[in-house]
Amino acid sequence: VDEHRVRRMVAGMTLAEKVGQMTQPEITAITADDVRTYGFGSVLNGGGAWPGQDKHAAPAAWLAQADAYWQASKSTRTGIPVLWGIDAVHGNNNVFGATVFPHNIGLGAAHDPCLVRDVAAATTRQIRATGQDWAFAPTLAVVRDDRWGRTYEGYSEDPRITRAYGYEAVKGLQGDRRLRLDGVLATAKHFIGDGGTEGGVDQGVNPSSTAEMINVHGQGYYGALAAGAQTVMVSFNSWTNPALGIDEGKLHGSDLALNGILKGKLGFDGLVVSDWNGIGQVPGCTNASCPRAINAGIDVVMVPQDWKAFITNTIAQVQSGEIPLARIDDAVTRILRVKLRSGVFDAPKPSARRDAGRALEARALARKAVRESLVLLKNDNRVLPLRSRAKVLVVGKSADSMQNQTGGWTLTWQGTGNTNADFPNGTTVLGGLREKLGAANVTFSETGDVDPTGYDAVVAVLGETPYAEGNGDLGKRGLDASRLHPEDLRVLDRVAGKGVPVVSVYLSGRPLYTNRELNRSDAFVAAWLPGTEGGGVADRLVDGGFDGKLSFSWPRTPCQTPLNVGSPDYDPLFPYGYGLTDRQRTPVGQLPETAPECDDGGGGGPATEDLEIFNRQDIAPYKAFIGSPENWGGTEVGADGTAAHATIGVVPADVNVQQDALRTTWSGTGQLYLQDPAGTSDLRPYLSADSALEFDVVVHQPPAGRVVV
Ligand code: IFM
Repeated sequence: VDEHRVRRMVAGMTLAEKVGQMTQPEITAITADDVRTYGFGSVLNGGGAWPGQDKHAAPAAWLAQADAYWQASKSTRTGIPVLWGIDAVHGNNNVFGATVFPHNIGLGAAHDPCLVRDVAAATTRQIRATGQDWAFAPTLAVVRDDRWGRTYEGYSEDPRITRAYGYEAVKGLQGDRRLRLDGVLATAKHFIGDGGTEGGVDQGVNPSSTAEMINVHGQGYYGALAAGAQTVMVSFNSWTNPALGIDEGKLHGSDLALNGILKGKLGFDGLVVSDWNGIGQVPGCTNASCPRAINAGIDVVMVPQDWKAFITNTIAQVQSGEIPLARIDDAVTRILRVKLRSGVFDAPKPSARRDAGRALEARALARKAVRESLVLLKNDNRVLPLRSRAKVLVVGKSADSMQNQTGGWTLTWQGTGNTNADFPNGTTVLGGLREKLGAANVTFSETGDVDPTGYDAVVAVLGETPYAEGNGDLGKRGLDASRLHPEDLRVLDRVAGKGVPVVSVYLSGRPLYTNRELNRSDAFVAAWLPGTEGGGVADRLVDGGFDGKLSFSWPRTPCQTPLNVGSPDYDPLFPYGYGLTDRQRTPVGQLPETAPECDDGGGGGPATEDLEIFNRQDIAPYKAFIGSPENWGGTEVGADGTAAHATIGVVPADVNVQQDALRTTWSGTGQLYLQDPAGTSDLRPYLSADSALEFDVVVHQPPAGRVVV
């Protein structure tokens, strides 16, 4: 890159223009005119923001919007083109019609680095078809405790896999050469240690030593940076361990992590972007003001709550000397360097680029990826593969559910509210079985209320329901497995033991305690979150050829957390690397179903209390969801205004609320969301700055508190 050109540009910019480059608002909070007036360096859409707020917006609508931003930025005094970033984490999953690939946990199990690169390259083509330049991917978390709800976004619990696949993913997204017009910018995220928090708490505390932080959690960044990753996103988690004298706190304010390790030790010369509102979590900061985060090395601030106030405050902080001008110049140098490297300076408007508006489909590759990702955990009596004309009874809530198959970060932020009609170009597992076996040979009963006698096999498709950030619906597995999706077990009870072999296909974003399900199944396939090509599951069930291997250890008991290859008493049910081929005869046998009492060490996680939460104010017709690092986004709080139960981490009596256009955040341990009455959109707060919701919170055990949001 021409560093002289960068230096000349920076020297010619006003302070306001520089801070504009550092500001990244969300598209629903701005217009193209704002891009022209404030000269934003970039914009983003989080999951669930579409052109015209139309979930089914066509590529042409995305491109028109991209052109509008581009034209606005080109007509500023500096003419610096704006970047548009998007959470395309498994394909361009925000865009209707895009083929969605298996989430990273599935790619990790496929043990095929070329596949990771091919999927990333296909994602790039999808992103360029809709006019964005920047993917907020890959996630490089080395997940050490699978209670973490974002486990599915990680490739593995093993740093070596994360490092190798991080390299491939960046190469696939950005292209082989550093300067490339037909790649998109990759983002190595979330720096650093997001997968290593205590108890698997999302946005929690990572207590690692510096050596462990670098040698375990940092490994993915070595891979990504070696591949030329141009952007790194900071993690919401903290890095603290008083016993080791580590007191970095929130990474968004950590000079050691960002300036010291990332830009210093790792020599990263691209740009560092904050996470959404991440600066507001730094002590002493708000979402519109955080000199500490900028001084610590953040170059681009994603979604400052009030972006106008952020710009004004930051300019004032430079003028007062709180933020050195040299730091701003460094940030803008990095931003412009990345823009030059990416080729946007010399590119025509997005709709005129070579691969704009191209097909979003990549079905053959996705189906291959699904096939390779499947791990056969049990195959007693060699039930699999099925005969090519076998008569099967298909049961379970996920057999014909694109929503459950695709998981979080799919059309909507949490992946919820999607129907099969939202994926007209995909195949469910049921659809795939009909294709492979012939429709006449396949009977479907979601609840399993059909006598299986006379069928060759039952295929039960079970598992988790979608979630994105937070701990997800099964986040409390370590504490109480028995309450988890009891309907799955009921379905299995209806069909098992009737003399017909049962094949369970488990869709999940992490390993789970599944002894009961395993006992009721003759064959058991971990299918992860396969994306839109569920037909790949059917291919393997019928044709065989299983060769996926676990990239995460599978627990023997619900108390066995955290469990990973680094655990001191490593004794999993299925170890890292396990996976049968359909020629193997290793029987699993009957497993104990009564879980031992989990002691504190085994159960893990912060202490939780049962709360009763009474909705005191009329929030109907909205649904309120209350969550915490333990159970975020999962618990519905009396939509009808009645009392409801939620399990939540200790609630501070004094809750500090931070709010922006999209999210309301308790700065303590909890988060509150409202969902629109139709339940079709993501969890979104519908609170305005002056509205208030009151909850009485009665804690069965102290501390008691009253939370006013
Ligand atoms: O990229 C994501 C990140 O992974 C989690 N917080 C929001 C960002 C932008 O949507």
